[in-house]
Amino acid sequence: MNTTTATAPGKIILVGEHAVVYGRPAIAVPVWEQVAQATIAPGAAGAGCTIVAPDINRRIVLAAAGADEPLAVVTRLTLAQLQVAENPDWQIEVRSQLPVASGLGSGAALSAALVRAIYSHCDHVIDVAQVSTLVYASERLYHGTPSGIDNTVIAYGMPVWFVKGQPPIIFTPGHSFTLAIADSGIRAPTKESVADVRRAWQRDPAQYEAWFDEIGALVQQARSAIEQGDLAELGQLFNQNHALLSKLDVSNAAIDRLVSAARQAGAWGAKVSGGGRGGNVIALIDPLHAAAITAALQAAGARNVIITTVAA
Ligand code: MEV
Repeated sequence: MNTTTATAPGKIILVGEHAVVYGRPAIAVPVWEQVAQATIAPGAAGAGCTIVAPDINRRIVLAAAGADEPLAVVTRLTLAQLQVAENPDWQIEVRSQLPVASGLGSGAALSAALVRAIYSHCDHVIDVAQVSTLVYASERLYHGTPSGIDNTVIAYGMPVWFVKGQPPIIFTPGHSFTLAIADSGIRAPTKESVADVRRAWQRDPAQYEAWFDEIGALVQQARSAIEQGDLAELGQLFNQNHALLSKLDVSNAAIDRLVSAARQAGAWGAKVSGGGRGGNVIALIDPLHAAAITAALQAAGARNVIITTVAA
């Protein structure tokens, strides 16, 4: 049997994170500059399946792994879906260029690469909706109560308009646009910020529902701005979304510094992206200003800056 390799992109939420957990729409795009990769090689006869993840220093023996190990869970579910032996003699290696717990969907990307590699290794045509469903099962372990947006955008590898519980709308923007993605270097698990927002929502549902409604409305406006290529308007909507995310208490001083630096260096708008409290800031930029904005973000503390263009 041959060796099989598959990849999956990272993702960034443009607008609507957190409110999307409560039924409002959100828009997310894939990030192909940094990917996760899974490679399946045949192992010794009778050795069973082992998953090695050198980046996170993990070696998982499938037969012994518990139900709380996301990569084992997604492997088992995929093998069952494809009606393959429960414990094939495979050596799987998963690697990721994506920093963990930084809002780029590192966990979902690893799982998606793994599911895609298993499909290919077993000569099955990849069913993207099924990949998304399988990755969602592992996302539940990473995130607690995920909306499903991360697994969707990563499985499809295309921009998505997402409302929880509804089929995603995959779209191509009317006009290309460019983002600077700045890693704050602060690792903040999404599971924790989502749980904190839930507790705060339980304490004051009326206030939080009102903020979620405001976010939902600006996501609708962002969709029109993306369709029309109105980047000045989209940038303003990023700024408004950041202000509302600050009210949800998922920003902090380090993140706000990056947001201000991007705006001062000429970005049309900037905001925290994903779970928040750390992770990434995204700025909507003119590619001509990419070098200046990258320098400003680095001076304000960014560990790494990725420039990505979402193609029309
Ligand atoms: C995480 O990328 C986005 C959140 O909205 C959580 C979710 O949608 O599951 C914070």
